[in-house]
Amino acid sequence: MGKVLHLNEKYETSSRPPNEKLPVRKFDWDFSKTQNYWLDNSAFKTHVLNTISLMLPAAERFFVDTVKKFAKEVKDDSLREAAKGFYGQEIQHYLAHDKTLQMLRDQGYEIDSFLEVYQKFGYDFWHSLLGDKIGLSATAGFEHYTALVAEIGLTSGILDRSSGEMKRLFEWHAAEEIEHKSVVFDVLNEIDDNYFLRLAGITISSIIFYPFLFWGTFRLVAQDGALFEPKTWKDFLEIFFTKEKFLVRAAEMAAEYLDPDFHPWDKNNSHLADNVFRKYDEQRTKKAEPS
Ligand SMILES: [Fe+2]
Ligand SMILES: [Fe+2]
Repeated sequence: MGKVLHLNEKYETSSRPPNEKLPVRKFDWDFSKTQNYWLDNSAFKTHVLNTISLMLPAAERFFVDTVKKFAKEVKDDSLREAAKGFYGQEIQHYLAHDKTLQMLRDQGYEIDSFLEVYQKFGYDFWHSLLGDKIGLSATAGFEHYTALVAEIGLTSGILDRSSGEMKRLFEWHAAEEIEHKSVVFDVLNEIDDNYFLRLAGITISSIIFYPFLFWGTFRLVAQDGALFEPKTWKDFLEIFFTKEKFLVRAAEMAAEYLDPDFHPWDKNNSHLADNVFRKYDEQRTKKAEPS
């Protein structure tokens, strides 16, 4: 059975960051100058992250709505406080990613039929059948994936080979996903720490995440007419298997999640988030200084 971990208790026994007061950071976003291939000068890699950006607004709205349904039942005061910060951060994320939808439309991509199917089958259909508790567990599973994407984004160097507003968006989002990575998991454990419930959640989130990620990416690549170009398949191999190793690391992280004693902060990677926050704090301070 999974164990219930309380934020303060865990912080005292490990180097876990005290995330009971999660700050909500706000930025102005302007994606109008974003290059079509803003990531590593690669259509395929750009469209992997573009697809993640497409998937995030519906996902994060669902996360916030779902966790809110259970927050009143959480007895741990600091965890309830963390949940409020979680809503604030996720709302800022989906508002920002919402703007990238228009960016992609302006770049000439047809995304709306994808978004319609994704909303219907990614959330509405199974949620109406399986209910809120499975929804909460799936949200914990999805948060495992956002933490995975965040860690890969901040450790593989891939974002160093990008620039502009999309880089800033993914760096900031990745840092906050790491910062709040245990909140939903802890809420789920407080509500019901049944191991099989947790497994059901990661199963559902995997069934949704991977097919839509692949479909969305190849759909955008096809719209570029780049489906049969050798570079597309070279970049496919790189990002998933040989360079950024997204799928290799996803398999490792899935295995960790299956450990009955798993907790997101077993691995403390908060320094990755801190580096990003420090960088943007310094930039803000410089901007604010009189020249
Ligand atoms: Fe987020
Ligand atoms: Fe999140």
